[in-house]
Amino acid sequence: MPHPSSNLSKERTLIIIKPDAVQRNLIGEIIKRYEQAGLKLIAIKMMVPSAKHVETHYTLDPNWRKVTGEKTIKSYKDKGIKPHSEDPYEITAIILEKLKDYFISGPIIPMVWQGAHAVKIVRKLTGGTEPLTTDVGTIRGDFVHDSYQMADTDKRAVRNLAHASGSVEEAEMEIKHWFRPEEIVNYRLIQESILYDTDLEGILETKEKKVPGKKKKN
Ligand code: CMP
Repeated sequence: MPHPSSNLSKERTLIIIKPDAVQRNLIGEIIKRYEQAGLKLIAIKMMVPSAKHVETHYTLDPNWRKVTGEKTIKSYKDKGIKPHSEDPYEITAIILEKLKDYFISGPIIPMVWQGAHAVKIVRKLTGGTEPLTTDVGTIRGDFVHDSYQMADTDKRAVRNLAHASGSVEEAEMEIKHWFRPEEIVNYRLIQESILYDTDLEGILETKEKKVPGKKKKN
């Protein structure tokens, strides 16, 4: 029986396996983590994007430059280091250029994943932007140790293996940006019954089927 929260279980998010993850043979490990959490892969491809495509991706959200710049400044201050600028827009103008070089350096793998709370679950599994300070147990925390400081010193983008949408609205915009509708496959996974269905009849082979209104014999 379809569950009352069936719209929730259709939430979608965009993940991009970045060039550093491809080069480090982490494609399978990254996909495994999202798969094991019960999410469903509904689109995937390998490509080398254009710099313009990357720039549009990062500027789909008009707040991205402000938020990313502020996060960088806060991270510097939390570590007792003076940021090289106090202007979030100045910081992100440079980051955006570096991000384009990073994304076009080799193949990337954009994917669409679906499931209940997909956006939040994927962000939790992926970890925070800066691998140095994010939790162990997350993809970024377990497999990379890059920092804002290292990236800025070497004048490059933080290498953090994967991108994950920040909100449901952002996810829908990003999915449209990377995939045509016909590239997304709508299908049902057997495991969705145990994850979402309200009625778990049919798992035990010996169990009698319930007939509505019929009383059990003594
Ligand atoms: P992502 O989660 O894709 O979102 C924006 C990306 O910009 C981020 O991962 C990093 O790769 C990169 N990034 C964010 N802040 C900085 C920074 N201060 N210096 C270099 N790269 C950054």
